[in-house]
Amino acid sequence: AEKIIIDTDPGQDDALAILLALASPEIEVLGIVAAAGNVPLSLTTKNIRKICELAGRPDIKVFAGCSQPMTGPLVTAEHVHGATGLDGADLPEPTMPLQEQHGVDFIIETLLSEPEGTVTVCTLGPLTDLGKALTRAPEIAGRIRQIVLMGGGLFEGGNITPAAEFNIYVDPPAAAVVFGSGAPIVMMPLDVTHKTLTSRARVAAIQAIGTPLSDAVVGWLDYFERFDVAKYGSDGGPLHDPNVIAYLLKPELYSGRLCNVEIETESELTKGMTVADWWGVSGRPKNAMFMRDVDADGFYALLTERLSWFGRA
Ligand code: BDR
Ligand code: CA
Repeated sequence: AEKIIIDTDPGQDDALAILLALASPEIEVLGIVAAAGNVPLSLTTKNIRKICELAGRPDIKVFAGCSQPMTGPLVTAEHVHGATGLDGADLPEPTMPLQEQHGVDFIIETLLSEPEGTVTVCTLGPLTDLGKALTRAPEIAGRIRQIVLMGGGLFEGGNITPAAEFNIYVDPPAAAVVFGSGAPIVMMPLDVTHKTLTSRARVAAIQAIGTPLSDAVVGWLDYFERFDVAKYGSDGGPLHDPNVIAYLLKPELYSGRLCNVEIETESELTKGMTVADWWGVSGRPKNAMFMRDVDADGFYALLTERLSWFGRA
């Protein structure tokens, strides 16, 4: 199985990504680090454990990462995800423990102790924790198998400003460290995630699973869609983060280009923009696989099938 660390700020779409990972025997989740993003760290640390318990996996190690970006105040997204970050389904308060080790230390220690090139880092939120880990221990960059991240956008523009996608916007200096680290990067930008829309038919297929878990998922998707439908049209809202995990399971669903990607950290107007050199005009080194297209029906078929595995004997 592919060993992964997930760094995440749940978030309904983060929740679906975590569930997809926990449902998949091809993946071994070494630990989950809570990021500050959609909602503050005090909530994301709790939300991750609620999701693990919903999945019947109280054994998963959950760590708290950084509560603030590298610079500046935390920007959150309650307007998208609700006050809890997981509005749409009421889950019980978690009883499983939060690990004592700091999430950044866990990332560093895991990458140093596991064999070189065997651990994939999946980020579903701002890049603060991974950026901090790479700053403190730059030698881990060469040991990472790949970084698969949800973040950025090129042809689709931004979703928190006209130029920037939320995860990169929250902590551009951290993103700049990650993109400059030399570790192999696969990006799931808005160009992909705006194609995986939560249509009525797709939500109905998940609803048909008919388990308590699928009921929670449908609650989240309906909540997510309620916010997004006015913005994106009648076909539902975009489902971002599960694309990261789906890529690990079925890379053939995705296509893109290896490009140079630089992060704008200064400009007020375009801060957090992922400047992707799709046409290769800069001559700068190609540091990221920028995904642009997805087989959205294949993605939903995979997600729905895996969600149906929970609660089976
Ligand atoms: C990203 O921002 C968050 O609101 C979502 O969870 C996703 O990770 C999309 O821009
Ligand atoms: Ca997220």
